[in-house]
Amino acid sequence: MERGGPVVRRKSRAASARKRSRERAPSPGAGSPPARKRTSSMAEEELQPAPASPEVWGWGAEVRLPPPGESSLLSVSGGNDCGSGRGWVKRTAVPWPVPTAHYNNDSEEDLFGDYDSFSGNDSFLAQVDNMEQECIQSVGLTSCTTNKDDNATVQPAFGDLQLQNIKSNKLIFTTAGNITCFKTEEESSFWRTTGEEENRTLEPGNYILDDLPSSQLLYFEEMNKISSDSRKPSDTKESANDTKSCLNKMLSQLPCPPNAEHTKRNNELSTNTTSNLSKRKSLKDHLKSAMTGNAKAQTPLVSRTKQLKEAVLSEEICVAKKTIETSSVDIGPFYGLPSKVKDLLVQFRGIEELYEWQHACLTLESLQQRKNLIYSLPTSGGKTLVAEILILQELLCRQKDVLMVLPYVAIVQEKVWALSSFGIELGFLVEEYAGSKGRFPPIKRRMKKSLYIATIEKGHSLVNSLIETGRIGDLGLVVVDELHMLGEGSRGATLEMILAKILYISKATQIIGMSATLNKVGDLQKFLHAEYYTNNFRPVELKEYVKIQDSIYEVDDKAKNGLTFSRLLNFKYSSNLQKMDPDHLIALVTEVIPNYSCLVFCPTKKNCENVAEMICKFLNKEHKNHGESKKQDLIKDLTNIGKGNLCPVLKRTIPFGIAYHHSGLINDERKLIEEAYSAGVLCLLTCTSTLAAGVNLPARRVILRAPYIATEFLKKSQYKQMIGRAGRAGIDSAGESILIVQEKDKHLVRDLVNSPLENCYSKLFLEFTKGIQGLLLSLVGLKIARNSEEIYHFMCGTLLGVQQQFLCKEKSLSDITREALGCLIEKGLLKEKMTSEKEQKSQSNLEITQLGQATYKGSIDLAYCDALYRDLKKGLQGLVLESCLHLLYLTTPYDMIYHCSPDWMIYFRQFSHLNSVDQKVAAIVGVSESFITKKASGQAIKKDVDNSIVNRLYLSFVLYDLLKETNIWNVSEKFNMSRGYVQNLLSSAASFASCVLHFCEEMDEFWVYKGLLTELTKRLTYCVKAELIPLMEVAGVSESRAKQLYDRGYKTLAHLANANPETLVKMIEHLSRRQARQIVSSAKMLLSEKTEALQEEVEELLKVPKDPSEDLLTTLP
Ligand SMILES: Nc1ncnc2c1ncn2[C@@H]1O[C@H](COP(=O)(O)OP(=O)(O)OP(=O)(O)O)[C@@H](O)[C@H]1O
Ligand SMILES: [Mg+2]
Repeated sequence: MERGGPVVRRKSRAASARKRSRERAPSPGAGSPPARKRTSSMAEEELQPAPASPEVWGWGAEVRLPPPGESSLLSVSGGNDCGSGRGWVKRTAVPWPVPTAHYNNDSEEDLFGDYDSFSGNDSFLAQVDNMEQECIQSVGLTSCTTNKDDNATVQPAFGDLQLQNIKSNKLIFTTAGNITCFKTEEESSFWRTTGEEENRTLEPGNYILDDLPSSQLLYFEEMNKISSDSRKPSDTKESANDTKSCLNKMLSQLPCPPNAEHTKRNNELSTNTTSNLSKRKSLKDHLKSAMTGNAKAQTPLVSRTKQLKEAVLSEEICVAKKTIETSSVDIGPFYGLPSKVKDLLVQFRGIEELYEWQHACLTLESLQQRKNLIYSLPTSGGKTLVAEILILQELLCRQKDVLMVLPYVAIVQEKVWALSSFGIELGFLVEEYAGSKGRFPPIKRRMKKSLYIATIEKGHSLVNSLIETGRIGDLGLVVVDELHMLGEGSRGATLEMILAKILYISKATQIIGMSATLNKVGDLQKFLHAEYYTNNFRPVELKEYVKIQDSIYEVDDKAKNGLTFSRLLNFKYSSNLQKMDPDHLIALVTEVIPNYSCLVFCPTKKNCENVAEMICKFLNKEHKNHGESKKQDLIKDLTNIGKGNLCPVLKRTIPFGIAYHHSGLINDERKLIEEAYSAGVLCLLTCTSTLAAGVNLPARRVILRAPYIATEFLKKSQYKQMIGRAGRAGIDSAGESILIVQEKDKHLVRDLVNSPLENCYSKLFLEFTKGIQGLLLSLVGLKIARNSEEIYHFMCGTLLGVQQQFLCKEKSLSDITREALGCLIEKGLLKEKMTSEKEQKSQSNLEITQLGQATYKGSIDLAYCDALYRDLKKGLQGLVLESCLHLLYLTTPYDMIYHCSPDWMIYFRQFSHLNSVDQKVAAIVGVSESFITKKASGQAIKKDVDNSIVNRLYLSFVLYDLLKETNIWNVSEKFNMSRGYVQNLLSSAASFASCVLHFCEEMDEFWVYKGLLTELTKRLTYCVKAELIPLMEVAGVSESRAKQLYDRGYKTLAHLANANPETLVKMIEHLSRRQARQIVSSAKMLLSEKTEALQEEVEELLKVPKDPSEDLLTTLP
């Protein structure tokens, strides 16, 4: 075993891991899901090119109306994360994001003009009332749950944590000169001895009042006088304090500054003797009284001294905030976290103790100094836990938001599930940014911090939106899992953009990256200004073998050619079997199954299916008896998902405990198969690279059917990731991999096993339109850089900049940059602005054009922006609106048409069934019936025909059918396409439709498309019954699960959030306890997110705005 062995591991888990993996449902009442993670699917990216930067950067999922006077903020979901986007949009009442500047106006006085007119405004108050009702419902719901079951902590437990903290270490508010900071009592003793400072124990909420505008203070003081007849103030100071404490109660529901939040919550908790609800004054009353109060407040009564005092106070608060930001606030014994976190790790993950390396990494000097960090350990080394602890530190101790970037949609969903329960217990929000989920810009939360879990594409959109709204500083930490993805195609380029922008714009944001497959980290370190930590610890030993003919060799780096002979494969083969299975795969798998699990990686999808069938054909029929009823259940579930259809291959293989797993399956099928495999119902999966990275599945043995992915020879990192799925900690006690090699590939394989991992190279340059051009356009669009000099400066800080000597051999980085800028100007996306003579002499400023703005806001791949513009323009001249075919044609993603080869007979059949309206559409776009007829009959065609148009129309026929049919199975059969492909087409089209919508929003001439595309996007994304949408908003709830839940009466999010997991298990067929708990946790988290959002909206409405007359006065001569 390698160095860095674990201190204390899981309690003898490994010993009988397999056995338990088959009996994994925890006992009733056991509060934790088992340690094993659900898995993920790498989805379509193995098959298709990455979609055309399909994220609607900056503007995400919701259709929202901008506030008066603001344009371009109407947004509709976008997003196709090269993964399993589910194809529907999350729609919630979303408070309009308010620019940060608005939050700092509290010190202004007398801010409302005519209060009476407001209080008389019934519709406005009715709105507030409605909103309040909604809030009360959500809050009430939460409190009800708490009342019902004391143990079921629905209220965030972070309050408890604070309370304990305060009990043991009183929080002291110290003011020394103009330096203000929060200290524990212990710390403050030093200050006390100096005797010069004015220390006072912080009355929870005191500084809420300190932060109030004078007009409000006057009003509250007035109120206090009336209400406290018996309490005669002895002096002014006392009076003020009394006023404050009395008013604290009333203010408990008014907005408080972020740094007041803890103490406020403590106060609420400690004074929680009477029901919150009964104490709660009507919001409408609050609003009325606040307004009346402000109205009564007489401006002249507020002295200059008072104003000055307020100015000093607000400055002090700023300093306090900064102190909190810069010092590492230690609020607990577990790596600065409360010991509750440790308990939760035991409860939710079964992790009792950290590995030695994890401890060493977390206590690194560089982390204490908040330096950026890259760490690298073998697969299954436990990297995630370190990142999660750092995330919790950021959220809880430093009170900053965090972005976690993960490579695939399914992995994001998995993480949202896993961390939601922590969020509920510790009082932070977990927000999903994957598929069609995510709001841009995110809602600004003042009460809780947010953990955004995002795919690379969504993460990019999120960062862009935070930059644009000036909120990037809210991000305290960015964590990137699978950092080696930086070197992978357009997604690597996008990841590089995220990191480069953060490094350039938000220096205080810490970056942490991890991977199992990094080599020569120097460049990455330079790029990220990061320290590096590595260790070769793997908790479960992984033995690597290579099979050549019937000889099995162990990979041994000490051996001369890297391989030592291990054994001969001993299996009797009949001549028939020999013919069917020349590689003796059956011998290899039967050594393992059915007692242990086995993954077989195959080069292609078809090969997966063939191998699964071939194995079943020769397996002993006894295999069928193993867990027979559960396999039947699985077949039933899959048939339900398929609305009565089941893939014949799966029908034949599942009884043997075998299934295939690749992107041809629809998402729900994949999930069911993964779950059945995790639970031991299935013992063997044949798969493509969909299961190659970041997933925790049981696999005693991983077999690589051939050293290829499609026709490409494996890269070392791909090989390492695949074999790394064997022997996962907490699941298996041992792991081994066998790579099957043909004689002809022997020499290549020796290189493969002996060579070091590939270096990670920037893809910004290679991915020209999706890479450097897109980046430069967004730099100008976001005003990060204004001229070529600044752009070049930015580019020097990218990974491409670091690797320029290696990557830019033929052209220098400045040439490349200049060339890319030239292309953007030539395409009419950027223009040079000469504003003054002086500027002409030096650097001209760059400006984004309307087309550029539309392209970048719509996240349109620059390769297609011209075509899109042309198509839309042509559409204006004769858009057919009697059916949605024409609109569908316009929103069929360009990047999918080049990989589509129509079946001409099917095309012809479809064409001949078109009604006259749709025939007209075909004629307008330029596809004639005679062309299709000739193609179908195999005749030669002399005329030059644009294939992209023909293919695009074909794909729009598929989408058209889907909208009419909504049954993916029937449509995929009709068009002879895999259902996975059809589903991917649908979600890509939904994303692209929203991209086109944003494109049109920026172009005045396309205003007419806005309404049409809004509706079309909805239709494409909600390709399920509307009633299921609220349930499907919950992370991990599929269409079929939503249907089951709905049929059992769980019709709303609130139903799910308040469900008892045990009851769910009983009510819902084939739902495990772990799934039930995760569904309930995720629903609670989502509900809490929505409640927060409504509360923020209320607070926003109640906030006293700045007096507009002040601005007028200052501008007057
Ligand atoms: N200290 C620990 N004690 C016991 N189990 C642990 C510990 N740390 C992590 N694990 C478990 O080990 C398993 C693998 O961890 P993780 O997924 O973090 O691996 P990884 O390093 O990210 O691997 P990969 O590179 O393959 O993604 C998980 O099930 C995790 O819960
Ligand atoms: Mg991992």
